Amino acid sequence: MPLFSFFMKGRGTHFTFHLCLALQFVLIVVTSGMGFKNQSVTVRCIAAEKRALLDFKKGLINDENLLASWASEDGECCKWKGVGCNNTTGNVVMLDLRALVTDDALSRSYSPIYGEIGSSLLELKQLSHLDLSFNCFQKIPVFMGSLTELTYLNLSSNSFTGVIPHQLGNLSRLLYLDLSGLDQSLISDNLDWLSRLSSLKLLKFGSTNFTKATNWLQVIQSHPSLSILHFEFCQFPEVDPSSLSKTNSSNSLSVLHLTLSSLHPSAFPLLLSISSNLVELDFSYNGLLSWIPDSFDNTPYLESINFWQNDLQGGIPKSLGNLCSLKELNLGDNKFSGALTVAVKNLSGCAKDSLEILMLGMNSFNGSLPSFQPFSSLRELDVEYNRLSGHFQEDNFGNFSKLRVLDLKGNRFTGPFPNLSRLSASLVELSLGGNMFEGPLPVSIWNMSQLVHLDVSSNSLHGLISEAHLFNLSKLRSLDISYNPTLSLHLSSSWNPLFNLITLI
Ligand SMILES: *[C@@H]1O[C@H](CO)[C@@H](O)[C@H](O)[C@H]1NC(C)=O
Ligand SMILES: *[C@@H]1O[C@H](CO)[C@@H](O)[C@H](O)[C@H]1NC(C)=O
Ligand SMILES: *[C@@H]1O[C@H](CO)[C@@H](O)[C@H](O)[C@H]1NC(C)=O
Ligand SMILES: *[C@@H]1O[C@H](CO)[C@@H](O)[C@H](O)[C@H]1NC(C)=O
Ligand SMILES: *[C@@H]1O[C@H](CO)[C@@H](O)[C@H](O)[C@H]1NC(C)=O
Repeated sequence: MPLFSFFMKGRGTHFTFHLCLALQFVLIVVTSGMGFKNQSVTVRCIAAEKRALLDFKKGLINDENLLASWASEDGECCKWKGVGCNNTTGNVVMLDLRALVTDDALSRSYSPIYGEIGSSLLELKQLSHLDLSFNCFQKIPVFMGSLTELTYLNLSSNSFTGVIPHQLGNLSRLLYLDLSGLDQSLISDNLDWLSRLSSLKLLKFGSTNFTKATNWLQVIQSHPSLSILHFEFCQFPEVDPSSLSKTNSSNSLSVLHLTLSSLHPSAFPLLLSISSNLVELDFSYNGLLSWIPDSFDNTPYLESINFWQNDLQGGIPKSLGNLCSLKELNLGDNKFSGALTVAVKNLSGCAKDSLEILMLGMNSFNGSLPSFQPFSSLRELDVEYNRLSGHFQEDNFGNFSKLRVLDLKGNRFTGPFPNLSRLSASLVELSLGGNMFEGPLPVSIWNMSQLVHLDVSSNSLHGLISEAHLFNLSKLRSLDISYNPTLSLHLSSSWNPLFNLITLI
């Protein structure tokens, strides 16, 4: 999905596209993956539905005339771009006007549709799949609630404004509803309509103001079928804890992403146990000023927790370390503090056997580096930019060979550069820059044959690195030895590395 990933990348850097403001925006995308498949079977198009499609087309504006195939003289509307029919009855069952894309030999260009979503869609009595995503529509029409055969409705990435119509609650067959988007400004004043979507599995909201929907948490907690729920760029009201059910939440919700949003701290602990079936939690980029409650006993199936970039404080609660399926824990870029030894001890419950990725960077953890020996599945450890100090030894890491990423940069470690020969068969990325290591680099480092990135910059290392040292590092792509007063690289002018070094600082 090239267009979408391009979009997401922009968001990560807080860069917003206003696709619909640029009048003739044409984006060249160099891979395929989107577009339309013309129906290969020959079915008769129903005359009334053909008229409805032509009528619908009248409301649409598209600079590239991408709907050229929708022409009255062509009787076979089942072969029109973006139209899919039931192959026996000829009823239109699918309309896919997502990011209309034109192909030429090597690239695809994108030209969105503007205009109005016309009510002639109501004539398509068996329409079950409607995708209008990545266009520039501005209003979600109320009549959409009457397209009762819909199982899939994708309105994402348009420029909608106004209230989300409650009538959508009439779409009782709906399984997927995507209302995400960054360049829209929607309001949901009440979420009661959501309870009536009793088949819904996936729901995504974007840029939506929920501050008047005071019952939003109750609706989610009691929803019978919802399994994946995303909120991005949304605003929420304060929550009254007494309004929530005290019994265990045995609903179906397993994936909850609530990111780049403003969340009242009162809602945070309630959301953490909104469902006992939670598997994935993502609360990154919410500026959440709180601590993590010790309440993970109610969510035993959690595998992934992402609290990246908030203002979370205090320590890591013990119940988090008792999650036996936890694979990924990202607490980076927060205000956690205290001894790292205590934090890691709290994680040493059942989670020590399952944890693969542990990200604690950009916090205020202090003290020495604890032993990670018991964490037998650990593949990535990131504690960069904390206040860790002291020496550390190879036996901080066990004999396991799974650690691929070790990032300890920007701390206050001292002493000789650690010998990490036990990790030499597995390490791909080693960042120990910005510490106070001294002495020469140990010989073991030149045997790390899997190493791709090596950063030992800004320490007090000395010695000489020659071509012979680099001989076994055949996968190395970046090497940073800068800001070490007496560490230098001696390479002959005829040096011809066998590998692909692209950054050398
Ligand atoms: C018609 O559609 C059904 C379900 O999508 C499919 O299983 C069947 O093979 C199709 N028939 C033809 C003739 O393509
Ligand atoms: C909706 O469309 C977008 C692309 O425009 C796509 O990335 C997204 O996955 C779709 N949503 C669902 C639920 O399929
Ligand atoms: C659709 O929903 C609206 C408001 O939610 C309701 O008043 C109306 O009766 C519903 N229509 C049908 C046909 O069920
Ligand atoms: C929810 O379930 C857990 C584990 O089954 C139990 O320990 C806890 O007391 C229950 N909470 C409530 C409020 O019933
Ligand atoms: C490179 O690998 C070989 C074979 O494992 C080993 O004998 C040699 O000492 C290594 N060279 C360096 C600089 O580590």
